[in-house]
Amino acid sequence: MARITYIEHDGTEHVVDVPAGLTVMEGARDNNVPGIDADCGGACACSTCHVYVHADWVEKLPKMDDMEEDMLDFAFEPDMSRSRLTCQIKVTDALDGLIVNLPEKQI
Ligand code: FES
Repeated sequence: MARITYIEHDGTEHVVDVPAGLTVMEGARDNNVPGIDADCGGACACSTCHVYVHADWVEKLPKMDDMEEDMLDFAFEPDMSRSRLTCQIKVTDALDGLIVNLPEKQI
């Protein structure tokens, strides 16, 4: 279980307890957090689950693979220093306290 804070573009915070084994995207989807569309259902094929990871967490997350990096090119205003696709981040207990900021929109 990890407590994850999703911050909408307007500053609205959603603090959610996400079970280990789900993805950060699924944690948002299952708790009706707006702003993560996840159109492809987590197949790393749409980029609409894009977020900006809080600076304190960028280095703590598992590295992105080539497929995620390529797909991020299609996201809305990606920042390669902190952008990630949430469907590619598996939740573990180590992610307790994770903070992600949602972009203004998804593509
Ligand atoms: Fe489509 Fe993440 S849900 S890329």
